[in-house]
Amino acid sequence: MSKVALVTGGSRGIGAAISKALQAAGYTVAANYAGNDDAARAFTEETGIKTYKWSVADYDACAAGIKQVEAELGPIAVLVNNAGITRDSMFHKMTPQQWKEVIDTNLTGLFNMTHPTWAGMRDRKYGRIVNISSINGQKGQAGQANYSAAKAGDLGFTKALAQEGARAGITVNAICPGYIGTEMVRAIDEKVLNERIIPQIPVGRLGEPEEIARCVVFLASDDAGFITGSTISANGGQFFV
Ligand SMILES: NC(=O)c1ccc[n+]([C@@H]2O[C@H](COP(=O)([O-])OP(=O)(O)OC[C@H]3O[C@@H](n4cnc5c(N)ncnc54)[C@H](OP(=O)(O)O)[C@@H]3O)[C@@H](O)[C@H]2O)c1
Repeated sequence: MSKVALVTGGSRGIGAAISKALQAAGYTVAANYAGNDDAARAFTEETGIKTYKWSVADYDACAAGIKQVEAELGPIAVLVNNAGITRDSMFHKMTPQQWKEVIDTNLTGLFNMTHPTWAGMRDRKYGRIVNISSINGQKGQAGQANYSAAKAGDLGFTKALAQEGARAGITVNAICPGYIGTEMVRAIDEKVLNERIIPQIPVGRLGEPEEIARCVVFLASDDAGFITGSTISANGGQFFV
């Protein structure tokens, strides 16, 4: 029986690349998404990977969704907390709603997904949790106080949980992508992208979603059993911790 991997936000962007790479590595993959039914349908048609719709910002929906995935596919061995949103604004203009939506999805979403998965992983003495943070959680970014706070929080969550999971055979790691060519980044004004962002990336280009997916496959593998609480920075040399 192949191991089951659940990828949040797994039907588009980086998450879709992660879902496909895990499938290619032999996992039975479940891809969660929030609301874009057309993208989810097209993704399932292309890959055969089942998609499941719920919001990671809703604890009860996560618990029910995880139960459904486990009933249909089997116990979750690998959880990839990838779902994320941006609501960018300079701080003096940021609304409480922009703050709350990003914290609820990008930070509390990790609690909501990991908490209902944790007991089963502890019982089975095996688990792999990979959290997709961001370069902007490491260095901060103007216009993203909400996003930077949430993504930095993801790293603290990763390190604390790694200590709790170690004796139970559960590893917890994070990946901090730099700028990757997904819809989230292509939504940035082209002039800003070409004149301000890409010149700051020493390798001179955006990253590819598959370059993040390969990091996930490694951290999910049995070969990575001695790696926990760590952060892989995949950012083209833009920022060193
Ligand atoms: N792109 C980058 O350069 C970059 C850099 C650093 C970090 N990251 C992080 O990498 C992750 C993926 O980013 P991306 O660029 O691939 O984003 P994306 O293309 O915008 O895709 C986001 C995915 O997350 C899902 N999602 C959003 N809110 C959700 C919620 N509340 N519940 C469940 N699913 C939800 C979306 O579902 P729908 O399809 O239903 O909308 C979609 O599948 C995010 O955590 C992001 O912060 C991205």
